[in-house]
Amino acid sequence: MLVEKNVPLQLYNTFHIVAKAFSLVRIRSVADLLQIVADPRLAAEPKFVLGGGSNIVLTGDVRPLVLKVEVMGKRLVRETAKGFVVEAGAGENWHELVAWTLQQGCPGLENLAMVPGTVGGSPVQNIGAYGIELQDRFESLDAVDLATGHTFTLDAAQCGFGYRDSVFKHAPAAPGGFGLKDRVMITQVRFFLPKPWKPVLGYAELEKKMVEHGVRNPSPEQIFDWVCAIRGAKLPDPGLLGNAGSFFKNPTVTPEQCADIIQREPKIVHYPLADGAVKLAAGWLIDACGWKGKGVGNAGVYERQALVLINRGQATGGEVMTLAKAIQTSVYERFGIMLEPEPVVV
Ligand code: EPU
Repeated sequence: MLVEKNVPLQLYNTFHIVAKAFSLVRIRSVADLLQIVADPRLAAEPKFVLGGGSNIVLTGDVRPLVLKVEVMGKRLVRETAKGFVVEAGAGENWHELVAWTLQQGCPGLENLAMVPGTVGGSPVQNIGAYGIELQDRFESLDAVDLATGHTFTLDAAQCGFGYRDSVFKHAPAAPGGFGLKDRVMITQVRFFLPKPWKPVLGYAELEKKMVEHGVRNPSPEQIFDWVCAIRGAKLPDPGLLGNAGSFFKNPTVTPEQCADIIQREPKIVHYPLADGAVKLAAGWLIDACGWKGKGVGNAGVYERQALVLINRGQATGGEVMTLAKAIQTSVYERFGIMLEPEPVVV
């Protein structure tokens, strides 16, 4: 096992923020992790698990021992009359997994094409796009307890999935109980892709594509291509312009709060949810406050989607967070809503 020192992290976070890890170990198997747990010096160190780096803001060099997840592999575990179970190593690239499942004839993840990040990050964030959340296609995952080296399996209920939320984002002492933040490393994730495949087309942008292409019954591959085109048109490619996807969660309010806001802001974008609450579009709120194209230092608000903060050059994590706070303040002052950031601040 090699402990690398002073490792640049610029290429390991999609914001491309310049920072370094004082020490970093690449984890390619459970055996690599067990070596760390068995090493008295490394076992005692605080640890930070780094996946695709697509949902973090680095505000300085990282002192905890960085465990970079590089567990690879993709396989079809089983096929039954009800569906396919596919397993992938946590270090696999998410988009490549989606493309691979389609090539294998196992559709079901196509709406989640082009979500940046790795397989291991997908349950942490409960990634979601175009009407599908990871929890809708999740079977189970394997993880290793970083303190004991014990390997265990969690099903969907045990992962505590919520909107861009899971048990992996909560500290152990969080109110309401059980949290696994910084306590475990996810090594494998299994997905359940139900048969027969049914397209998920509720989103206006996908319906528009159907009309444009004159297609009434799209194939999984067509949906995949359309999602790639939609995302490509309005979200910046992290390879070209550093960003972490949506920077804030879409807030929910009560119908009464929503009615009150509509009186003042008749154009507000809102969607009623099944449980009676109303979801507001954070991107619209930020846009309405005039933030598109503005920024702090080298951190900016993307011109085509105000929910995405970007690194225009050499932005620091501090600049990104100063911008995020300024946006929160102006949205709060105008709408009385406090936006909650999605990425983890390190
Ligand atoms: N809008 C504006 N101005 C903006 C941005 C958005 O007016 O600058 C309006 C849009 O016109 C639209 C509404 O706000 O009416 C919602 O925008 P959009 O459809 O782009 O979706 P979103 O709510 O901003 C969410 C997810 C995305 C996901 C898309 C599609 C969150 C935080 N974000 O974005 O997920 O791709 O829906 O399903 O839930 C991510 O989490 O990183 C992410 C990209």
